[in-house]
Amino acid sequence: MSGLILGIETSCDDTSVALVDRSGHVAAIKTVSQYEVHEAFGGVYPELASRAHLEAILPTIQSVMDEASATQKDLTAIGVTRGPGLIGSLLVGLSTAEALSLGWGVPAYGVNHLRGHIRSVELEDGQTEFPAVIMLVSGGHTLIADLKDPWSYRLLGTTRDDSVGESYDKVARMLGLGMPGGPAIDRAAKLGRPVLRLPRPMKNEGYEFSFSGLKSSVARHIENHPEVSLEDMSASFVAACLDVLVAKADRALAECKPRSLVIVGGVSASPQLRDAMAQVAGRHGVNLCLPPVKWATDNAAMIAMATWDYIERGVQPALFPKPNLSLETP
Ligand code: KG4
Ligand code: ZN
Repeated sequence: MSGLILGIETSCDDTSVALVDRSGHVAAIKTVSQYEVHEAFGGVYPELASRAHLEAILPTIQSVMDEASATQKDLTAIGVTRGPGLIGSLLVGLSTAEALSLGWGVPAYGVNHLRGHIRSVELEDGQTEFPAVIMLVSGGHTLIADLKDPWSYRLLGTTRDDSVGESYDKVARMLGLGMPGGPAIDRAAKLGRPVLRLPRPMKNEGYEFSFSGLKSSVARHIENHPEVSLEDMSASFVAACLDVLVAKADRALAECKPRSLVIVGGVSASPQLRDAMAQVAGRHGVNLCLPPVKWATDNAAMIAMATWDYIERGVQPALFPKPNLSLETP
């Protein structure tokens, strides 16, 4: 086996390593979750995250190389997340990649995590037709952008406060559903009906998003309407989120007239979101590109996949952490 990228992702609380070929076939992947490390804190505790990455990173790389029976001779390059993310967590992946690159004589590329999500739709035979409108809906980000090709991004809008994933997680906590909140809310919402009329913040205004008001409104309803079941509360919350996301996608498809609509990030695992976006894409006659559900959330396969773009463009960002890296910067 040769022509593989070794992808390394340590931007937040998952240590993930993968081997991916040019066609997007994932030869091996392992993701070590830090869920139990952070559970008691109700969020990611940065210092503990970097320590847990340090413990996990080398055994995870070893296990992935063994699983694919790969050696350094099989590697075209190493691709590692350089941002955005937690600085201590990023540093673990970056310094490991740099050491392996020097020791093995394999080039290493610092990769933008957001571009990794966007290229997750290429894994397992996906093919985005350009131009494309992309919507990234994750725990850290909510944004919409226009892409001429896999390299030329134009940001249309982002969130002024919380991300969609963050509001799913916070509402799940308010309702006493466990973490991660997204899948728990989805499951509850499927059993309920959207009986509450919740706000749709910024639905009709351009491409900016705002989710903190929606979250506060759910908190008030939980307090004032204890008779509403958690299933109906979840269904009402999901309906409000989807209404906003669909309205923005609809506007971008009408204005940008792309060939594809690309929906990525952890929240793109939501079956309700997938169905709603399939309808919008269908109305506009564009292809809907979604990542395989198992690779919607943070993983190293998407980072490895995005590395091929960097190689083909001849762009090799330094192995230096950029906690606030923007979508437009490689
Ligand atoms: O992309 P991701 O793994 O991490 C970031 O880059 O932020 O996204 C994590 C987010 C969490 O907020 C989680 O609740 C949400 O994705 N999520 C979901 C689902 N699975 C994960 N949200 C809705 N439905 C899901 N099935
Ligand atoms: Zn992510």
